Amino acid sequence: MDLQLRGKRALVTGASRGIGRAIAETLAEEGCALALCARGAADLETAASQLRARGARVHAEPVDVTDHAALAAFVDRSAAELGGLDVVVSNVSAGAAKDADQWQRGLDADVLGLVRLTEAAVPHLERSRGSIVSIGTTNAVDNAWPSAPNAYSSLKAAVVHYASAQAHALGPRGIRVNTVSPGPVFFEGGAWATIKEHRREAYDDMIARSPVGRIGTPQDVAAAVAFLASPLSGYTNGAHLVVDGGITSRVQL
Ligand SMILES: NC(=O)c1ccc[n+]([C@@H]2O[C@H](COP(=O)([O-])OP(=O)(O)OC[C@H]3O[C@@H](n4cnc5c(N)ncnc54)[C@H](OP(=O)(O)O)[C@@H]3O)[C@@H](O)[C@H]2O)c1
Repeated sequence: MDLQLRGKRALVTGASRGIGRAIAETLAEEGCALALCARGAADLETAASQLRARGARVHAEPVDVTDHAALAAFVDRSAAELGGLDVVVSNVSAGAAKDADQWQRGLDADVLGLVRLTEAAVPHLERSRGSIVSIGTTNAVDNAWPSAPNAYSSLKAAVVHYASAQAHALGPRGIRVNTVSPGPVFFEGGAWATIKEHRREAYDDMIARSPVGRIGTPQDVAAAVAFLASPLSGYTNGAHLVVDGGITSRVQL
């Protein structure tokens, strides 16, 4: 299946490792030019160099998405560098640590990171009739794990809700907005590698609860993002695609 992404210009936040990096790699394989950011310049440059070595055109900048002015400037510079934008993926999260600052950091990174990114991207996506994909989490729709009230799950629920509302607001302007919510995803250096090392019983419990008998990979999520970002999903707008092997038991009506 040709996703018709060849020649498209895609911006991905948080693209130096994990799911964001896999999204960048997948979009590059599909023929997109890329604009990538993360805070750490060294890891970002490693990711960008590897993509360039495979033939991708890449504009990479160290940007903290919680600096909303810097984020907006990055969007405009990316569009100028690539000649426009067709796809924007909001992937950054402040994570699920439970320290005292977590509500504020999650609000700045997960929620306002998406809101400000969307506002900055709309003029460019309106010109290209492009699309936005936000990254949520199954925690936004399932209180089974983690069970205690926490900023990460609540703020990700706001991400899913905002993306759905923007799908309705921006659809008439030619812009589609969809969300992909991953379940647990393993990669070296990621949160589930830490859980596997330090809380093996929690890791094993997650595998036991997975109907497909395994944890997710960044590529599982990236494939879903590429489809929703592509012109081939032109009639899919306001969708919330859960990619979790069936771990959440809700009926997705
Ligand atoms: N991994 C999972 O099991 C899982 C499950 C469900 C949902 N998700 C969601 O999937 C997304 C990606 O998760 P992941 O596990 O791949 O993330 P990760 O390991 O935390 O990596 C995130 C990426 O974002 C960058 N980043 C972090 N904070 C940033 C900031 N303030 N500004 C700019 N870049 C920033 C990181 O690089 P720097 O640190 O150098 O900035 C890195 O490139 C998140 O939205 C997460 O909530 C993940």
